[in-house]
Amino acid sequence: ATRTPLIAGNWKLHKDCAESVAFATELKDALGADIDVDVMVAPTFTALYPVCQALGKSPIAVAAQDMFWETTGAWTGEISAEMIRSCGCTHVIIGHSERRQFFGETDETVNNKLKAALKAGLVPVVCIGETDEERKQGKTFEVLDTQVKMGFKGLSAEELATVVLAYEPVWAIGTGNTATPDMVQEVHAFLRKSVADSLQKELANAMRILYGGSVKSGNIAELMALEDVDGALVGGASLDTESFSGIVRYKR
Ligand code: G3H
Repeated sequence: ATRTPLIAGNWKLHKDCAESVAFATELKDALGADIDVDVMVAPTFTALYPVCQALGKSPIAVAAQDMFWETTGAWTGEISAEMIRSCGCTHVIIGHSERRQFFGETDETVNNKLKAALKAGLVPVVCIGETDEERKQGKTFEVLDTQVKMGFKGLSAEELATVVLAYEPVWAIGTGNTATPDMVQEVHAFLRKSVADSLQKELANAMRILYGGSVKSGNIAELMALEDVDGALVGGASLDTESFSGIVRYKR
């Protein structure tokens, strides 16, 4: 299967409305129209609409960093998939480790959000990853397998066709400790096999699996050279034009 790489920037809790618009505009100009990978940025909720407006017809896709699974009702503070779409977004990040770690996200809530995102026609970027402790206890594969199976529960291969999986070892996020290429390839191959065995081989072959955790312009090429790595979910290094465009334009 030919999988178009996806380079995704997760801005986390950085940049207000004006800063987000200015940065998105700068990025759009810096990248131009001739990019040969898919590019996505995930600003904060409050900046989604103005960033989508500023990007206009640019090939840069916009994602929300999270969402809620209900469509409407008495859910103070929540934002639905449809609302995200109505801002002009096409993608949504679901189950980021920071949501799991600090905001009570579980495999069940990931599953609920995934179903709602697909129903609304958003492309979900589902994040999974083991903690340092889990890796040290030799539980990496077990943890990841559960996160994938529970996260995808009740969904068919057809329904999951657009889903992007992002492997982010928790110990590699924002720490400067990138997983070694061997570790990354081992996990990505395992994930693809797990999807093939539990769902469908065609889906597994077509599914983009991103790596996240201290990705920068200096290590992107060796990660992208790995057979089962189809892109990156970038935090810190996605926050300025030079480093993010350096990642997007990694040397093939
Ligand atoms: O969503 C992005 C990841 O959490 C990676 O963050 O590139 O700052 O390590 P990082």
